[in-house]
Amino acid sequence: MNKIGVLGTGTMGAGIIQVLAQNGYEVVLRARRETSVEKGIATVNKNLDRLVAKEKMTAEEKDAVMARIHGSTDINIVADADLIIEAATEDMESKKALFAELDQLCKEGTIIATNTSSLSITEIAAATNRPDKVIGMHFFNPVPAMKLVEIIKGLATSDETRDTILELTKNLGKTPVEVEEAPGFVVNRILIPMINEGIGILADGVAKAEDIDQAMMLGANHPMGPLALGDLVGLDVCLAIMEVLHAEYGDDKYRPHPLLKKMVRAGKLGRKSGEGFFNYN
Ligand code: CAA
Repeated sequence: MNKIGVLGTGTMGAGIIQVLAQNGYEVVLRARRETSVEKGIATVNKNLDRLVAKEKMTAEEKDAVMARIHGSTDINIVADADLIIEAATEDMESKKALFAELDQLCKEGTIIATNTSSLSITEIAAATNRPDKVIGMHFFNPVPAMKLVEIIKGLATSDETRDTILELTKNLGKTPVEVEEAPGFVVNRILIPMINEGIGILADGVAKAEDIDQAMMLGANHPMGPLALGDLVGLDVCLAIMEVLHAEYGDDKYRPHPLLKKMVRAGKLGRKSGEGFFNYN
């Protein structure tokens, strides 16, 4: 495997691009808008500058990493990739349309992975004529820092596809964990309801936002509290995952808290919008 395509240049896409390029892969990225292509490349550039400033990478090494990254708004840029990792909007219908398009476009042997955080791999794969080559490859935010990748087979994913992705994940310096297809997989089924509960505690007036986070950092040894984590993940993403958990399991313990909904309606999405439960401006 040499050339890897990445679709989407948001928080997750940019992190995935960086990790791939840092580990020697040639990366072709595609975003729908020119500004998104530029923003994705600029994010990687900024992150690498930080590594150079910390003397974890030389300026020459950084240039070599950046030279391995090529972007376009034209989806044909990924046509001859050996693997494609989709990290686009978390919406089933748009993912299905994208996978159907990729299936027509790509080489016969190309594996198409999705970074979906909670949607069904089987359903996405069914939009293609190569469901054996479709797999879930779920990274965590911030991608360069987080060691885990959840690997999720759909109903038709072949063992060969799984083994290829397990090997790639290790080559990226990450630890794969195989997970059966289930809403939220492992991490999000635990983590996102915990964030939702933190929001409920805030709404109930049990403690201030800073104190809820402090309590979980010092009382449960979490690196960051649930509200700051919600802001990092994106409150819109948290809401979308809660909605999938609630709809799929049909259990009210997964009901998104009204305050979470209200924050999203107000456009307070966390770090990416500059404000969530905390201010980032
Ligand atoms: N981008 C790239 N690298 C980053 C980064 C970012 N935004 N933030 C931190 N890092 C890197 C740093 O460069 C540093 O790496 P080095 O040791 O190689 O220099 C390392 O992470 C530690 O960073 P810091 O020392 O600056 O900060 P910290 O010790 O406070 O750690 C943290 C920051 C890694 C974010 C830590 O607070 C943490 O682990 N938080 C929890 C994150 C988490 O739970 N993520 C999962 C969210 S759920 C998800 O992503 C799944 C989903 O589908 C929604």
